[in-house]
Amino acid sequence: MANIKRIGVLTSGGDAPGMNATIRAVVRTAIFYDIEVYGIYKGYNGLIDNEFKKLKSKSVRDIVHRGGTFLKSSRSDRFRTPEGRQQAYENLKKNEIDALIVIGGDGSFMGAGIFSKEHDIPCIGLPGTIDNDMFGTDFTIGYDTALNTVVEAIDKIKDTAGSHERMFLVEVMGRDAGFIALTAGIATGAEAIFIPEVENQVDTLLDTLKEGKVEEKSSSIIIVAEGSKGGVNEIAKQVKDLYPHLDIRVNVLGHMQRGGSPTAFDRFLASRMGVAAVEALLDDQRSIMVGYVNHEIVHVPFNKTIKKQRNLDGGLMKVAKVLSI
Ligand code: F6P
Repeated sequence: MANIKRIGVLTSGGDAPGMNATIRAVVRTAIFYDIEVYGIYKGYNGLIDNEFKKLKSKSVRDIVHRGGTFLKSSRSDRFRTPEGRQQAYENLKKNEIDALIVIGGDGSFMGAGIFSKEHDIPCIGLPGTIDNDMFGTDFTIGYDTALNTVVEAIDKIKDTAGSHERMFLVEVMGRDAGFIALTAGIATGAEAIFIPEVENQVDTLLDTLKEGKVEEKSSSIIIVAEGSKGGVNEIAKQVKDLYPHLDIRVNVLGHMQRGGSPTAFDRFLASRMGVAAVEALLDDQRSIMVGYVNHEIVHVPFNKTIKKQRNLDGGLMKVAKVLSI
């Protein structure tokens, strides 16, 4: 077993529901194994600014169900510089911290990988992002909650779309990936789904409109992932130019997708992964992400999860199309 006496935990990048449950699992597992835990506030910025606080079991009481991250988060430009990472290392030494657990997305793991190599500090990553775009895990912490939030919002939009016989284009998050859009589209029965992974979707939509299939319906929902070519307003404009009689509205769901109490699945995933992260450190692992594949915990080297792109299941676009007529 590795000789680890004190670890640090931080959340980095965009927050995701379930981050608090993850911190709780890390803290309680460490205490179970007689390891001290320090919370590092505001992500890598707090590592550089020495914002450390010892966490006890009761510090993480009553947070398993809370959205956001009580440690707070940041996207740190300073940690991208060798000077910033040097300062971070000095703070870790000063606080006698032997290893780091980072909860975040691929940008956060890239930083952790460089830091670990530069300063010989074991780092373990836990995938916390609503985008579900990490290679090496079937699910990221926060995705299920965000998906349910999106589905709930679209169900409501469908009510008003139906009353007014309108077409709604709804933009959802996901950065460069279409996981939220595609899954939410299938779950809400959207008439069309735009995702960054598929090209020429405007043409496909216009063809579908030409066939009259969408117009046969009194209202319709089109989901647009934020990374889709052209963007939601441009797509809306192109449709309106060709079909001026359509009453079109654009709705950008935005940051509400990142909030809210995590679902049971996200709490469960966060808890399993948090335990696995501390056990991985004890098992002498470093520079790996804890993933969840086929309902099992796996370890994926940082360089694999950062470099490889997670592909969407191409067959799902067909499922969405077949069910949308
Ligand atoms: O990665 C999570 C995410 O919410 C993306 O879906 C989105 O593109 C981005 O973060 C938004 O970042 P910010 O909160 O910095 O605007």
